[in-house]
Amino acid sequence: MSLLEDFVKFLNANLPKAPSFHPYYEEALGVMLKAGGKHFRALLLLGVVANVDKSLTQKAMRVALGLEMMHTYSLIHDDLPSMDNASLRRGTPTLHVTYDETTAILAGDALNTHAFYEISRAELPADTRIKCVEILSENAGVSGMVLGQALDCFFENTNKEDIKRAKAKFGLSGKMLSLDELVFLHIHKTAKLIAASLKMGAVIVNLDKTECEKIYDIGLKLGLAFQIQDDIIDLTSDEAAAGKPVHNDLAKNSFTNLLGLSGAKKKKDELISEIEEALKQIDANIAKMILELTDKHLR
Ligand code: IPE
Ligand code: IPE
Ligand code: MG
Ligand code: MG
Ligand code: MG
Repeated sequence: MSLLEDFVKFLNANLPKAPSFHPYYEEALGVMLKAGGKHFRALLLLGVVANVDKSLTQKAMRVALGLEMMHTYSLIHDDLPSMDNASLRRGTPTLHVTYDETTAILAGDALNTHAFYEISRAELPADTRIKCVEILSENAGVSGMVLGQALDCFFENTNKEDIKRAKAKFGLSGKMLSLDELVFLHIHKTAKLIAASLKMGAVIVNLDKTECEKIYDIGLKLGLAFQIQDDIIDLTSDEAAAGKPVHNDLAKNSFTNLLGLSGAKKKKDELISEIEEALKQIDANIAKMILELTDKHLR
């Protein structure tokens, strides 16, 4: 069985359970997890582990599951009417469409918390689990993904009345971000969690600090390239292939809006070249795994 098949099997066997007399709360927790997706972050984590110490792969599954829950919560909230207002995700109607907005908010909240519950239960040494909790919370939380999402939503050319009101209150009007600001935004909303995925894998197999930091830095470049590719998908793909609405970024600060399609592709290719160069400095098997996932999802 491939690592991907193994992970999907583990995920489906470990969906969150919350029996109660609520008619659909428990079902809502699992819908977006079951719907699939690329599992890019989980595979980065598991790929590092499997290439260094195969005997730890099964034990790392629970950490990868926690990571996937964190990522899935971020998507459920990203799709809310108050954020990107998207009706499709992973080829499935979003939770606020199938159920209601309250359920979508609460399912996201629950998966965010449950991510840490899963990591805490992994059959790994206590200090490894604590480090994984630290890495995930640092990169997803207040100055990680959430900060990126705050910047993304605040600086879009919004027609949302409440954001317009808040901007007016602070004497601000919308502005197009500079390239440096857009890089900062994308590093936070996407790259940090992707870099954290690699670093959590490295911590699980006890790589030394220098190696962990090298891998994290490669992850930041990889995550930035991944979000540029996501911006390109919004412009060039269709809903059936993407599994989510396209042309949804017209009012956003995206790489394609700032640099045009060819500028965005060029920036992505430059980053991939830098990643290829940096991969020469780390474990060859990990490097090969990262290159394979890059070829599969970023070309
Ligand atoms: C979507 O992430 C949001 C971004 C950060 C670009 P993915 O493209 O990894 O979404 P799934 O997990 O495959 O659905
Ligand atoms: C979302 O970025 C990144 C997150 C932290 C969820 P996007 O808004 O571009 O992701 P998609 O295109 O909806 O998947
Ligand atoms: Mg968004
Ligand atoms: Mg979105
Ligand atoms: Mg997008």
